[in-house]
Amino acid sequence: MNAITAENLTKHYPVRSGGRAKGRVVHAVDDVSFEVPPGRTLAIVGESGCGKSTIARMLVRLVRPTSGRVLVQGEERIDARAIQLVSQNPWSALNRRKSIRHALEQPLAVHGLATGRAARTARAEELLGLVGLSPDYLTRRPGGVSGGELQRVTVARALAVEPEALVLDEPTASLDVSVKALLVNLLLDLQRRLGLSYVLITHEIEIARHMADQVAVMYLGRLVEYGDAEQVFGDPRHPYTRSLLAAVPGLAGLGDGAGVPPPPLAGDVPSAVDIPSGCRFHTRCPSAADACRRTEPILEDSGDGRQAACLRLAELTSIASPAADNEQT
Ligand SMILES: Nc1ncnc2c1ncn2[C@@H]1O[C@H](COP(=O)(O)OP(=O)(O)O)[C@@H](O)[C@H]1O
Ligand SMILES: [Mg+2]
Repeated sequence: MNAITAENLTKHYPVRSGGRAKGRVVHAVDDVSFEVPPGRTLAIVGESGCGKSTIARMLVRLVRPTSGRVLVQGEERIDARAIQLVSQNPWSALNRRKSIRHALEQPLAVHGLATGRAARTARAEELLGLVGLSPDYLTRRPGGVSGGELQRVTVARALAVEPEALVLDEPTASLDVSVKALLVNLLLDLQRRLGLSYVLITHEIEIARHMADQVAVMYLGRLVEYGDAEQVFGDPRHPYTRSLLAAVPGLAGLGDGAGVPPPPLAGDVPSAVDIPSGCRFHTRCPSAADACRRTEPILEDSGDGRQAACLRLAELTSIASPAADNEQT
């Protein structure tokens, strides 16, 4: 049984202006489905503005889907505790004027999880211990704590209600390079100890590579590639994934048959209101053909358990493979 199942999640926002824009919508997320097995990590990667945070908000019920649904352990739960969010910026996630004790004890009080001051203190200290912080952090306020430590506090707060899964929306993006790895290792350690499932949203491919079991690649509200992390990072199929990963040093398997790496992404993501016709990526795709301007590809299984949405997939991969064979002989 999967910890999280996202079924055809869609979120459209009305465009808030009159005149020509009236009645039009922002396609924040369009028909996205994925599964997260228990104790595993699904990474959602893609450029800014492609709908990752909107998915995060739908998973934790901060935003109601336009259509589609989220299942926890196969059921549509009313229980809001099951999936908790850790977001990018711990300073805005925590109340500056309140102590860390307050941050940790508030969810306990709201959900009636530890009654009495002594029990709440004990649990708050235990939560700090889980994230490697000493009990004397209870009396501190966010202003006097470093970013890395403060992000640990938001993780501890998310764990207060004993969730089954965490949605980590750019958890390391606001941290100094030197403390990113510390947080990643803490998250991996907590996952092993507590059996947590993670949805990791990040534009930092190195972090996704380090943590993910599976990867979903998003472009303009849609999934374009989805599969095991090893396959997607080691042998990306979709032209968007290939270009996205081309910018990352040290990733193997990115050259085509002639050893030419895919071009890095040029230009910006198009407007989520004026979605390009056909394949949404065709305006930036190095392999776009006429058909790509007319027909929108669907996410298809290529037989090895991985999925990609590209009309030219068979063609492009069969061009790459024989050339690779030639080179070896
Ligand atoms: N509350 C909102 N109202 C209108 N548009 C929104 C809202 N939230 C997000 N969007 C739009 O939806 C798209 C996806 O945004 P987001 O999910 O934040 O992307 P990401 O996290 O991948 O950067 C963007 O075009 C963004 O401007
Ligand atoms: Mg975001």
